[in-house]
Amino acid sequence: MKKNILITGGAGFIGSHVVRLFVNQYPQYHIFNLDALTYAGNLANIRDIESQPNYTFIKGDITDGPLMMDLFRQHSFDGVIHLAAESHVDRSIADPLSFIMTNVVGTANLLNAAKASWNGNFEGKLFYHVSTDEVYGSLHNPEDFFLETTPYDPQSPYSASKAGSDHLVRAYHNTYKMPVVITNCSNNYGPNQFPEKLLPLMINNILKGKPLPVYGKGENVRDWLFVVDHARAIDMVFHKGVIGETYNIGGFNEWKNIDIVHLLCRVMDRKMDKPEGSAASLITYVKDRAGHDLRYAIDANKIMKELGWEPSLQFEEGLEKTIDWYLANAEWMDEITSGAYQQYYDNQYTTR
Ligand code: NAD
Ligand code: DAU
Repeated sequence: MKKNILITGGAGFIGSHVVRLFVNQYPQYHIFNLDALTYAGNLANIRDIESQPNYTFIKGDITDGPLMMDLFRQHSFDGVIHLAAESHVDRSIADPLSFIMTNVVGTANLLNAAKASWNGNFEGKLFYHVSTDEVYGSLHNPEDFFLETTPYDPQSPYSASKAGSDHLVRAYHNTYKMPVVITNCSNNYGPNQFPEKLLPLMINNILKGKPLPVYGKGENVRDWLFVVDHARAIDMVFHKGVIGETYNIGGFNEWKNIDIVHLLCRVMDRKMDKPEGSAASLITYVKDRAGHDLRYAIDANKIMKELGWEPSLQFEEGLEKTIDWYLANAEWMDEITSGAYQQYYDNQYTTR
């Protein structure tokens, strides 16, 4: 069926993979990619699909409420897949208010615009909110996993702002009967991830012979999923998810930070023809992140059993693909690590 779909944040890391999947897989949909092109947004991430006839890019900021109303009036969106966000925990510690503005107020603006546009006629409509496992807080018992029923306990300004936006989305469902779905996903990795996040930051620093900053003792645990598998899950939930439901997404793939960094170092040495131990010699333990969550681990059984989703890649294969992409795309990395980002990065590590 012909539909106008609004995807927000489609110039960012995960959004670019979602936009590509939808544009290529659904010629019957027109995909509108709304993105403010902040430091994290990069049109180079979606260059390959920008001339497709079913694709339109709109530069715009979700904190601009009247603009959101206008866009819904102009394009009568049938579906929204909302990914635009401030996404980096360290930045939220340094500047919490911009996270509240984009993640909470921005989401509220989109909900209001969808509510006004749909005006109680919800046939064929869906507001899909892409969220994070960080809303559940930190796990301390090694047996525990985050379930869809785990109470919210966000610990950082980033996760609190995402929790706030999840609550608003549920409130619009409960109060106005707006058709919504929410997914909470674990740590993504893969091509096009901005090199402030753990894996691309380490890859970039190994390539440049710079220190590899491991926070605290490197004992914190994250659960890693290849970004294309997240995009596939979003496709599945958008088309088959039950209205009003939440689905956790994760790869049952937990790693201690220090272990994943050592694995990455070994693979990088091999790919760069360097003696084993070269990259690992750059590992530097630095001051811990404030309020650093100890462990995230997703129980993804609901989406697996109810919708039939499962990750397509083993972690080692995904990591190889990711490293190969960064090695083949040095220009992409150079462009975004010059100028303003480099300044932010240098400030971070001179003040730590
Ligand atoms: P990202 O930082 O790479 O991209 C965010 C995108 O949103 C950028 O293109 C940016 O320009 C855009 N944006 C930011 N503020 C905006 C605003 N005010 N108006 C319009 N656009 C704006 O983020 P990501 O890692 O791709 O994450 C995407 C979504 O997925 C976020 O909602 C995040 O919370 C969620 N998520 C991320 C992960 C992860 O591991 N990266 C895991 C689970 C959930
Ligand atoms: O769990 C999902 C979340 O994963 C998403 O919602 C966030 O948007 C995304 O940024 C990510 O959050 P994390 O804080 O887990 O990701 P990050 O890559 O910043 O850090 C991963 C782990 O590595 C974390 O324990 C902190 C640590 N770390 C990170 C950096 C950048 C380091 O030890 N050194 C570093 O330089």
